[in-house]
Amino acid sequence: MDKKQAHREVLELIDKINYYNDKYYQEDVSEISDYEFDQILEKLNRLEAEFPEYKYAYSPTQRVGGTVTKNFETVYHKFPMLSLANTYSEDDIREFDKRIHKMIDDDVVEYICELKFDGIAISIMYEKGILTQAVTRGDGEKGDDVTANVRTIRNLPVKLKGSGYPDLFEVRGEVFMPRKVFDQLNLERKKNDEPLLANPRNTASGTLKMQDSSIVAKRKLDCYLYGLLGENIGIETHLEALAKLSEWGFKTSKTYSKCKDLAKIFEFIGDWEFKRNDLPLDTDGIVIKVNRYDLQKKLGFTSKFPRWAIAYKYKAQNAITKLNGITYQVGRTGSITPVAQLEPVVLAGTTVKRASLHNANEIERLDIRIGDHVFIEKGGEIIPKITGVDYTKRGNDTTNIDFITNCPECGTTLIRLEGEANHYCPNNENCPPQILGKIEHFIQRNAMDINSLGEKTISALYNNGLVKNVADLYSLFEEDILKLEGFKALSTRNLLDGIENSKTRPFENVLFGLGIRYVGRTVAERLAYHFKDIDQIKEASFESLISAPEIGQKIAESIIEFFNKPENIKLIENLRKQGLNLHVEENEDDDTGRSFQGKGFVVSGVFQNFGREELKTLIKKHGGKVLSSVSGKLDFLIAGEKMGPSKLKKATELGIKIVSEAEFMEMLKE
Ligand code: IVH
Repeated sequence: MDKKQAHREVLELIDKINYYNDKYYQEDVSEISDYEFDQILEKLNRLEAEFPEYKYAYSPTQRVGGTVTKNFETVYHKFPMLSLANTYSEDDIREFDKRIHKMIDDDVVEYICELKFDGIAISIMYEKGILTQAVTRGDGEKGDDVTANVRTIRNLPVKLKGSGYPDLFEVRGEVFMPRKVFDQLNLERKKNDEPLLANPRNTASGTLKMQDSSIVAKRKLDCYLYGLLGENIGIETHLEALAKLSEWGFKTSKTYSKCKDLAKIFEFIGDWEFKRNDLPLDTDGIVIKVNRYDLQKKLGFTSKFPRWAIAYKYKAQNAITKLNGITYQVGRTGSITPVAQLEPVVLAGTTVKRASLHNANEIERLDIRIGDHVFIEKGGEIIPKITGVDYTKRGNDTTNIDFITNCPECGTTLIRLEGEANHYCPNNENCPPQILGKIEHFIQRNAMDINSLGEKTISALYNNGLVKNVADLYSLFEEDILKLEGFKALSTRNLLDGIENSKTRPFENVLFGLGIRYVGRTVAERLAYHFKDIDQIKEASFESLISAPEIGQKIAESIIEFFNKPENIKLIENLRKQGLNLHVEENEDDDTGRSFQGKGFVVSGVFQNFGREELKTLIKKHGGKVLSSVSGKLDFLIAGEKMGPSKLKKATELGIKIVSEAEFMEMLKE
C-alpha cells in the first residue's frame, strides 16, 4: 500500500469507528458485532503501526490509553472557571430573579434549569474539530492537564461530528462515574479484598488524576457537557449552545428545561427532587441559568460568581441508624479522634458505616450512648455527621461512652491540656500512627515532595524496621528496599532517586515538613525568611518569635516546645548531616545578570519551588522591580497556586503577561 492510500484508509477507518462508537455509547445501539468492530480497530492499529506518521492523537486507538504521566502540567484557563453561588432556600431564588429583573429591562427573562451533576468540572479545548487539551478546574484559574486521561472517555468526541463548529473553542462539563460502574468496581474490589471506594464523585476525581491512562480507560468514566466558550462563536443562547454541542457529538443531559418564570423554576425543582435518584449519576441540586448570552454578559460576575446563574441545592438527605460502638484514631500529632461505628445504612446513594465524633466534648454535647439511634446527615461533605440522638428510642440496653484513658495504638496514658478539646497521646516518638503520619506529612508536595513514596511503602518501610523517623529515609540502601514486597530494581532506583532529589528543596519546605504544630506552609515561609536559619529559630526567644511577621503567641509557644525536645534536636542534626537545606540559600557570589532590568513584577499565590519572599529576592537580584498591585505599569504577573482571582482577572484585562512558576524558572535560566 502506498502512503497516500494508507492515509486515506486511516481516515476512513477513524470515521467508521467513531460512527459505531457514537451509536454504541450515545444511543446504545450496536450496528455490528463486537468481533467485527474489533477487526476494524485492529486494522487501524496495524496501519498506524506501519505508518506512524498517520497515528493521530484523536484516533480511536488512542482511547485505550497507554500514556503514563508522572506530573500533570499546570495549565491556565483561558477564562477562569468560577463556581456558582449556592443556596438551599427558595427565597434566595426569588431574590436572584428580582436582582436580574432590576438589571434587565425586559419583562420576561428566560432561564434554563439543569441538574447539578456531582462530578468533576472539566474544560476541554477543540481546535479544528479535534480535542487538543483537557484541564481540570483546579483552583479556578489553573488546573491539571489531564488530556490523556480524558481522551479515554468513550462518549466524548475526540473528533467532532458535523460541521460549522468554530475553529477554536472550549467546552465545559462534568466528568463523572455512573453509579452502576461505581457499584461494579466496588463489587470487584470486595471480591479481591481491596479497600472499598467511598463514592462515585471521589472515584471519578481520583481516576482522572491517575498516572496511567490505560487504567483510566478501564474505569468507564462518562461526561456531560453544559458550556461552550470562545471568541465570536456565533451562538446567542445557552439553549442553542446545548443543541450545537449535541449536534457536534457531545453528550448533554436531556434533563434541562426552559423556564419562563419563578413558578416554572419551582416546578422543575419539585419535579426532580426524587426523580433524580433514578438518573445514572449523583446530582446534588439544580442550576438556574439566564438563557440569553447578551443578558449574561450584561449581568456579568461578582468577584466569585456569575450573576446570571445560581445553584439550588437539595437539602441533605437524612437517615437514622444505630451506634454500635466507638473506635479511636491517632493523628500525626498524637491527637485522638473518636469515630462512631454505625449500623450500615444507605444515605444518598452510599453506604455509611462511620462518622467522626471529633472529641470528647462532642460526645458530651450530643449526650450519646452506645446502642442509641442517631440521626445522620450528609450534606456537601463526604464524611457524614451525627446531628442528634433519638432519645425516644433509647432503651435499657444502651451504655455510656467512657472516653479511653490510654492510647489505642501504644497504650500510653493520654493527656488533655487545659482549654483543649482533644486528648493526646504524648508518646510522639514511638506510637506507630504518629510516626507514619509524620513521615507522610514530611513527603507531601508542599514539603519534601517525594512522590516516589506512598502511604503503603512508608508502612512497609516502618514495619520492616527500616524507617522510624524522617531522617531514616535518607539512609536507606538499595538492598533494604529490594527486600520489600513488589520492589524491583527500577522501582527501587526510582524511590531512592526521589528521596535524594528532595535534598534540594528549600529551607521553608524542610521547616514545614518537620510538622511543628501550627507551623503550616505559610508560617514556615515567614519563619524561614525572617530568621534565615534553623539555628536562629531554635535559639529565638518567645519575644523574638512573636516579633516576626504574623507569628502569634500560640505558634511561638509551639515552636519553643518543639525545640525543647532533645529528640527533635537530634532529628534536625541528622537531617543536617544528610545535607538538607536548613537555611535560606543566599547567593553570595552574585554573578546573576540584570536580565529583568526595569521590568515590573507582581508575585501572587503559593509556589512549589520557591517561597514568595525568595522569589521576590530573585527578581530584585536580576534587576526587576517588585510591585504590590496589578496596574498598567506591570510587565509580569508570576502566578502561583491559590492566587487571588481578582488579580488574575485584572491582569488578563490589562493584557499583562501571566507567568507560571515553570515559565519563571525558564526566564531565570535565560
Ligand atoms: S455551570 C460559572 N452547570 O457546579 C459556573 N455547573 O458550583 C458555570 N456543575 O464547577 C458552571 N452541574 O462543576 C454548571 N449543569 C451544570 C452543572 C455545574 C454541575 C458544577 C461544576 C461547577 C460547579 C459550580
